[in-house]
Amino acid sequence: MNFKVTKTEKSRFENINYETLGFGVHFSDHVFISRYKDGKWDDGAIEPYGLLPFEPGLCVFHYGQSIFEGLKAFESLKGGVNIFRPDMNVNRLNRSAEIVCIPTYDEERLLAGIRELVKIDAKFIPRKKGQSLYIRPVVFGSGHFLGVTAASEYHLIVMTSPVASYYAAGLNPVKIMVSTDHVRAVQGGVGAAKTAANYAASLWAGMDAHKRGFSQVLWLDGVNRKDIDEVGAMNIMFVIDDELITPSLSKGTVLAGVTRNTVLTLAKEFGMKVSERNISIDEVAEAHANGRVKEVFGTGTAAVISPVGLLEYKGKEMIFNGMKIGPVAQKFYDTITSIQYGEVEDTHKWNQHVDL
Ligand code: COI
Repeated sequence: MNFKVTKTEKSRFENINYETLGFGVHFSDHVFISRYKDGKWDDGAIEPYGLLPFEPGLCVFHYGQSIFEGLKAFESLKGGVNIFRPDMNVNRLNRSAEIVCIPTYDEERLLAGIRELVKIDAKFIPRKKGQSLYIRPVVFGSGHFLGVTAASEYHLIVMTSPVASYYAAGLNPVKIMVSTDHVRAVQGGVGAAKTAANYAASLWAGMDAHKRGFSQVLWLDGVNRKDIDEVGAMNIMFVIDDELITPSLSKGTVLAGVTRNTVLTLAKEFGMKVSERNISIDEVAEAHANGRVKEVFGTGTAAVISPVGLLEYKGKEMIFNGMKIGPVAQKFYDTITSIQYGEVEDTHKWNQHVDL
């Protein structure tokens, strides 16, 4: 597939200090952009990253019809670039689209657009292990109209951002507050979609948690506030005895994480007992009291693996693995990152390779 390419006149590259990258602060020179009008998406094109002309009546400003994705590209040790499991992300983007009534996008075209974008802005890909090029596709209603209805025009934009660790703590275990006052999603709602509303809904609880010295919130189900859904913007995993347990996707309140899927696949290959099932905060508290909870960690594209060292629930603290990263979390982190950076053979064919 060939795309029309308009190159930037002034590169942003020189303004980036790769020693102090942070997460999502800098953007590369170009975007892949496609517009939906009169019932169809155009072919998509590469254009300079920059301002877009929108009116105050833009649909997404008012009613939040917006979905996004997050995936990563790595400089491969074997040369060229590895984009990790982009087919999973573009497929999930379309599943999110269906949930918030956005027209789906041709997955092969989007994958080709992402590859072209990564190639054009390859100089932005960090060289250091632990850093990567974060790829952020976003799709939003871009008609101008105040009626509450699905928009008739949309923009799809893929931007890229050279990033370091998502959490300043890196792989150090974080302290998490179990939220009993706020919920992220309810059955029948939009919890399974990577849509702006879920992130807006998480901010209040996240700020409360920060004020109290916690990094993030553990989300319980929206009805009984007992079953565990997610942690922050990540999926959550528990190692209890020798079983790896993560909440199932069946209720539609949990995002189908790509890293979640990667970890579950690897865990089965490592010979672990793996369960996708309901797990309540009471079950975790009881197993912790009996010394059976070996490790807890979050999984997500941005942080990869984020060990949870402490959970606070109704004023009581549970500490896991002495607030240190455990061997299971470490093994998943090492295995996943060594595949991403091309240090070991990619037996699952998870990387899409881009030659430079
Ligand atoms: C991810 O880990 O992919 C996320 O979605 C986090 C993002 C919201 C920064």
